[in-house]
Amino acid sequence: MRIAMIGTGYVGLVSGACFAEFGLEVVCVDKDEEKIRRIESGDMPIYEPGLDQLVARNRAAGRLTFTTSTAEAVNGADAVFIAVGTPTRRGDGHADLRYVYAAAADIAANLRAPTLVVTKSTVPVGTGRSLLRFFRQQRPDLEIDVASNPEFLREGSAIDDFMRPDRVVCGVETERARELLGAAYRPLNLIETPILFTGLETAELIKYATNAFLATKITFINELADLCERVGADIQQVAKGMGLDGRIGRKFLHAGPGYGGSCFPKDTLALLRTAEQHDTQLRIVDTVVQVNEARKRRMVRKIVDACGGSVAGRTIAVLGLTFKPNTDDMRESPSLVIVPALQHEGARVRAYDPKGMREAAKLLPGVEFGSGPYEILEGADAMVLITEWNEFRGLDLRRVRQLMREPRIVDLRNVFDPLRVVREGFAYTSIGRPAVAPGIETVLPAPETTAEERDA
Ligand code: UGA
Repeated sequence: MRIAMIGTGYVGLVSGACFAEFGLEVVCVDKDEEKIRRIESGDMPIYEPGLDQLVARNRAAGRLTFTTSTAEAVNGADAVFIAVGTPTRRGDGHADLRYVYAAAADIAANLRAPTLVVTKSTVPVGTGRSLLRFFRQQRPDLEIDVASNPEFLREGSAIDDFMRPDRVVCGVETERARELLGAAYRPLNLIETPILFTGLETAELIKYATNAFLATKITFINELADLCERVGADIQQVAKGMGLDGRIGRKFLHAGPGYGGSCFPKDTLALLRTAEQHDTQLRIVDTVVQVNEARKRRMVRKIVDACGGSVAGRTIAVLGLTFKPNTDDMRESPSLVIVPALQHEGARVRAYDPKGMREAAKLLPGVEFGSGPYEILEGADAMVLITEWNEFRGLDLRRVRQLMREPRIVDLRNVFDPLRVVREGFAYTSIGRPAVAPGIETVLPAPETTAEERDA
């Protein structure tokens, strides 16, 4: 089976390489010549663990090729996947479909035989059907099918999510589309992955509903964390106790500074716009969006309070800038709200992130970047941990205390064990956990959760 993947961004490149790993013949297309040249030389445009090896292996096997020519890619393809960006349209929250339609026009102009066109990009409900009309208009001579095959890839574990998904969703209109998508995902039959065939609109909505629900789950636990702080309860134990109920589940109940990234913020807004267009209220999602935005700003207060009411003239060492670990992606990261606000309040901000600093340097003027955590902690009045990179979990706290001017930690991801940190002589603030006063050791330490455990 041969497929074309239009767009070599995050989703296109990962999906293309994974389909090739399944044994399909994959041609990836991108208009950006420089990007194609870079990928071909082994330099990945995004940081995703394992992606460079996957691409290299499948290129060497001759199953994965790259081109800037849509004509070359789509001719002879059994299916053409559209995996271009659908950013938030400036000003109104709608998903911007201009790249999807540009890709569709390109496909229509270049196809020579009946083909299945599949949207992998996250597109609002109704887009598949309007693409169907578009192709009928443009190419009445060819039978072009349209299907929806949303992706559920998490940055940082995208390859594993593709290879071992919880489910695959395929919105199809014809038997041919069903057969082709069934064939593309056949290797997943071996691991008994549920493959759900639905109509176009249903598949499109499953994608948005999933992201909105996960965003809701996170926001729910974040608000409960605030209550925990008031009543002396421990949010990690609460989340564990709730999550052990099989109807709720333990994943995505990790309280933090608010969700970010290229998906949840954009998709929740786009879902609200779709609901509005169809005269339906999604009040829960609406509230989630507002609560999450406010939360990022509230984190600034938390840091200022932890510093005794003012950060003016203080040096703050920020550990982690990306919206989550194992990515270089800074989009909608809580750090983009927190860091400028601290600077506005008069703090001098020094920062370190294992992968995000190149991007962060463009977005966070005035920040001094260091080459490691210890470097930025030297002489700092507070450590603020925003992203839970694994390398921060193993910090030598004794060394950290010696380096800092004031031994103070604000842990926005509950990475550290409160008791241990306090015993090491730090003032410690975390999310939704009771304060541990030095000398009081009756509070049981909350279990430390790794990012892998959280998402596994
Ligand atoms: C998300 C979904 O998890 C994927 O299934 C989906 O395919 C993808 O969006 C998409 O639509 O393309 P991603 O944005 O890569 O993936 O990252 P997540 O791991 O979902 O994290 C999103 C945000 O929520 C991060 O800021 C993270 O720190 C935060 N989060 C996550 C929490 O604060 N607590 C949690 O328990 C889990």
